[in-house]
Amino acid sequence: MAFLAMRGVDKRFGGVIALRDASLHAERGEVHGLLGANGSGKSTLNKILTGVVAPDRVDITIDGRPAAISGPHDAHGHGVAAVYQELSLIPDLSVTANLVLASEDTRLGFLRRRADRERAAEVLGRFAAAFPGGNLPLDVPIGNLSPGEQQVVEIAKAVARRPNILVLDEATASLYSAQVEVVFEVVRELKAAGTLVIFTSHRLGEIFELCDRATVLRNGELAGEVTLADTSESELVELMVGSLARPAGRGHQVATQERAVRLEVSGLATDRLRDIDLSVRAGEVVGLGGLAGQGQSELLNALFGSTRVRQGTMEVDGRPEMPRHPKRAVTAGLALVPGDRTREGLLPVRPILENLTVPSLRRRSRLGVLSHEREREAARSAAEQLQIKYGSLDDGVMTLSGGNQQKVVVGKWLLTEPSVVLLDDPTKGIDVRAKQELYELITALTTDGVAVLLNSSDDDELLGLSHRILVFFEGRIVAELTGEGLTAERLVAAALQVASA
Ligand SMILES: Nc1ncnc2c1ncn2[C@@H]1O[C@H](COP(=O)(O)OP(=O)(O)O)[C@@H](O)[C@H]1O
Ligand SMILES: [Mg+2]
Repeated sequence: MAFLAMRGVDKRFGGVIALRDASLHAERGEVHGLLGANGSGKSTLNKILTGVVAPDRVDITIDGRPAAISGPHDAHGHGVAAVYQELSLIPDLSVTANLVLASEDTRLGFLRRRADRERAAEVLGRFAAAFPGGNLPLDVPIGNLSPGEQQVVEIAKAVARRPNILVLDEATASLYSAQVEVVFEVVRELKAAGTLVIFTSHRLGEIFELCDRATVLRNGELAGEVTLADTSESELVELMVGSLARPAGRGHQVATQERAVRLEVSGLATDRLRDIDLSVRAGEVVGLGGLAGQGQSELLNALFGSTRVRQGTMEVDGRPEMPRHPKRAVTAGLALVPGDRTREGLLPVRPILENLTVPSLRRRSRLGVLSHEREREAARSAAEQLQIKYGSLDDGVMTLSGGNQQKVVVGKWLLTEPSVVLLDDPTKGIDVRAKQELYELITALTTDGVAVLLNSSDDDELLGLSHRILVFFEGRIVAELTGEGLTAERLVAAALQVASA
């Protein structure tokens, strides 16, 4: 029997099936790839193993014995350690403090500090070549390191636990190739010492270089188990997307070529983005595709003035604009609908009415005296147009269901009558019905001549709604899919930077 066996794994998030009867089998001393397109369930499967996500059903055995994992503590107990793309470090604390945070040494003062520093040096020492000049930045606040260096510290911290099973979930995404090599060297040493490493990466080259076997997921189900030495890139892509030719996107019903350009961006660069050129016409939906975290969301935030732009120009309806602040972006005719409603999109403790009308207040009061009845009327008609299910406009916005909350986020921007709507994974975590209603709304926006930029972690949604898709890879646009090219297979091939089969 395999050293690690996960069988019959089911997990739903509300109406979304993340995993259905998925499974994974892997051995000691193996680097095991976990592959699949965006949203296929890789992170969910990893997080079930590490006790971060509670499954609906799972059967795990480790080393032949049933393993009950109902929280991170249980996972540690079974020798499982994990690193995700998102960092878990505390930016203001030093590298040393972050590395020894979990240690149980209770000595005080100087001795403790010296012991901590020695321990940190030992942990990070294996990764020295990932830092300039091989110098370990032990006393530096971790927030001052580059994203890649922070990620290396995170990996070192997991390795220091001496795990039997090490999960690396997109953990190399922010690393430079030299840093990747350092991490791979350590992974090879762990493998030689009998550790099982479960490795997820969007760089197929890394998978082929490092992994022995791989499990491929498709829509939350097991699509296949492969030995990488016997498998080609195109075979892998086919396993990920299936050989079924899916219907192309809606294509151009509107002759958008003849319509006015509403948004034009050229040479845009931020800390993470390079050379971004794009234009969106009235009535057009331009999708931003690729694997998660390749710069799609960063672009929307840069255009909206909430991420610093280093270079580039932008025009809205022919007027030069480069908003330094979201308020300025709204005045310029932009609206941003974020996927994370509670953090960015809503005023959680305020009533529905206020949530709907705040961004458009300035616009309406400019037209004359601000009338409360006019506010209410505008909010009521937006709520109706969006089919928001609510009791009273004075109820707290958090009394609404997730889907209805998201409609409020969309609705408040509609009241500003934007030229360009930026949608940042707008249907994440909302139910199927609310999704459908948002799709209808996006279509209605385009009929009104709004230009839409859509980032979505759901490839089907992206293909279904976009007239064109710009594919991102590591901060650049690497492909543009149009017309017949709007297929799931082309999208995945472009996202992974492999030649399309
Ligand atoms: N916390 C969550 N709430 C709602 N839906 C989620 C959550 N986490 C994941 N999902 C959904 O589950 C599916 C699988 O996601 P995930 O495991 O992150 O995929 P992958 O890592 O392969 O990209 C996706 O449809 C995703 O939107
Ligand atoms: Mg993931």
